[in-house]
Amino acid sequence: MLITRLQLKNWRNFRKVDVTLGPRGYLIGANASGKSNLLDVFRFLRTIAQSEGGGLQKALKERGGLSKLRSLHARRDPEVRIEVDVSESREDSPPRWKYVLAFKAEGKGLQRVLIQEETVIKEGEIRVHRPSPEDLADPARLTQTYLEQINNNADFRELADHFSSTTYLHLVPQLLKHSDEISGRIVENDPFGQGLLQRVARTPEKTRDARLRRIQQALEVAVPQFSELHFEKDAVSGMPHLKANFKHWRVHGSWQREDQFSDGTLRLIGFLWALQEGDGLLLLEEPELSLNDAITAHIPLMIDRVLRQRKRGGSSRQVLSSTHSDNLVGAVTDPDSILLLEPGEDGTNVRAATPHERLEMEHGLNAAEVLLPKTRPQSIEQMGLFS
Ligand SMILES: Nc1ncnc2c1ncn2[C@@H]1O[C@H](COP(=O)(O)OP(=O)(O)OP(=O)(O)O)[C@@H](O)[C@H]1O
Ligand SMILES: [Mg+2]
Repeated sequence: MLITRLQLKNWRNFRKVDVTLGPRGYLIGANASGKSNLLDVFRFLRTIAQSEGGGLQKALKERGGLSKLRSLHARRDPEVRIEVDVSESREDSPPRWKYVLAFKAEGKGLQRVLIQEETVIKEGEIRVHRPSPEDLADPARLTQTYLEQINNNADFRELADHFSSTTYLHLVPQLLKHSDEISGRIVENDPFGQGLLQRVARTPEKTRDARLRRIQQALEVAVPQFSELHFEKDAVSGMPHLKANFKHWRVHGSWQREDQFSDGTLRLIGFLWALQEGDGLLLLEEPELSLNDAITAHIPLMIDRVLRQRKRGGSSRQVLSSTHSDNLVGAVTDPDSILLLEPGEDGTNVRAATPHERLEMEHGLNAAEVLLPKTRPQSIEQMGLFS
């Protein structure tokens, strides 16, 4: 299933958003235009839907409370509102699922955040619509969503499971390399990819080998001298490791463990693994980091290829990435998969390519040439004054 449409009101630096999404999405925009904030909506929904230790109040607390979250651009209407359609394809009408959540501060000294609306619609039919008469009689009930309550989400468990299976990855190779020194402490939901080796270790051998083989094929192209990638457990400590062979003047090359891999190699391994694992939404922060420009230009292709392979196996994964990379955006062939974030006085506007921009792409310009100039801050020339 895919998130096929996202509507927001008063979410962080967005006053209003209404966009459709497909199997792949690339968010482009200047620094601080809100790319990470947009991805954060899905992390927020994941935390709410997580059956263990999740919930609306926790999702709010993790973000420093409603006052941090609610858009500074919000006018008189103080409500934060999230609406998502979830379906097999964005052409489905009505979508398989629609989920609506709106909330605001109670404003009576109690400082509670109360749900203003929670609605679940399946194939056009309303399954949940709150506040119910019971909610109105006991407003404390409005501090919790049905999405987070196993007793109340039985009718739409598929949707709750989909939200909670979202993965967010902003891989920081240093954390993975130095996991021993930081005594293996992993941040909740592992946003920095520290737990990669443990996840590789937990994967059944056959699946693991097949995934590593695919990663190996990509790395053979991307990393000079790279030849083999294997999983192993340390004979003494039992700790999981990845080892790779680098072709060398020595006949058998030389084997290295992940703490010797380059940052770019580790980031590629992390994101290629994530593409093959799980079936919820995958959020990637700037997958181009530490990678050579020529390799960056292959990222959209790698994503497409892995997803195509998975589709043949009957599974899939929606991928939404933020990016600043000219080469990456230039290699995106489907204009529908790019979203532009344009900051303005009234918050950031999110839009797809216009018909005119699409025409330019059809006539030989690539997506980076047409769209990236529109994301550059207007006063960029002045930055030279500081150098
Ligand atoms: N509640 C809010 N109301 C208005 N603006 C907000 C709110 N919360 C955060 N912001 C603004 O959002 C901006 C940060 O957005 P975000 O981190 O999503 O940018 P980004 O596009 O990911 O940037 P980068 O490319 O540098 O990673 C900051 O300027 C911050 O002030
Ligand atoms: Mg960001």
